[in-house]
Amino acid sequence: MVEIAPSMLGANFGEMKREAMLVAPHSAYLHMDVMDGHFVPNLTMGPDLVKALRGIADIDVHLMVANPADFIQDFSDVGADIISVHVEANNPEKAIKLIKELNIKAGIALNPSTPSSAIEPYIENVDLILVMSVEPGYCGQSFHENSIERVRIYREKYPDKIIEVDGGVGPENARLLAEAGANLLVAGSAIFGSSNPIKVIEDMKKG
Ligand code: DX5
Ligand code: ZN
Repeated sequence: MVEIAPSMLGANFGEMKREAMLVAPHSAYLHMDVMDGHFVPNLTMGPDLVKALRGIADIDVHLMVANPADFIQDFSDVGADIISVHVEANNPEKAIKLIKELNIKAGIALNPSTPSSAIEPYIENVDLILVMSVEPGYCGQSFHENSIERVRIYREKYPDKIIEVDGGVGPENARLLAEAGANLLVAGSAIFGSSNPIKVIEDMKKG
């Protein structure tokens, strides 16, 4: 079965806690997109916001920052359950080591334009592969169709890893992604842009 992690970047920031409480009973995690204005042009959220949502649901932190190792302790302190770092960032190996030392699930993320093989050196130390299906930076971009094939290849090669897909995901592509082997789907605008976020989540779970 596929699980859902609503991307809180797609929520109304003025109503963040209320939106989190609305989706949490139907979701496996709250997905928190952390951007530093260097790794990607956008600036988003930090540990204080994660702290404010702690306890509502498990927390999935997606670090889109140039130096992820600098932030692992901060996100551990506020209760992150998963922390993913990008293979394109500086020293992902050091960050993954810190995450595992803190007994948190570690993920390796990669952009659509990055070769699939780039994650190989890290794979034995991570629990999760975060397949980006848009170039990171913003909500509401359109899904890169070739991500489905990437998921299929990873599922065959790494049967025991959690495979998470992030970017342009919604009810229209959830089934194909689940069939290809994804087990955690992130969605921002599909959920929070809807007048019925719960129905969107349930539709995505059904596939
Ligand atoms: C993109 C972020 C995504 C994004 C998802 O850089 O990592 O998590 O918020 O938003 P949608 O589902 O709208 O593409
Ligand atoms: Zn994300």
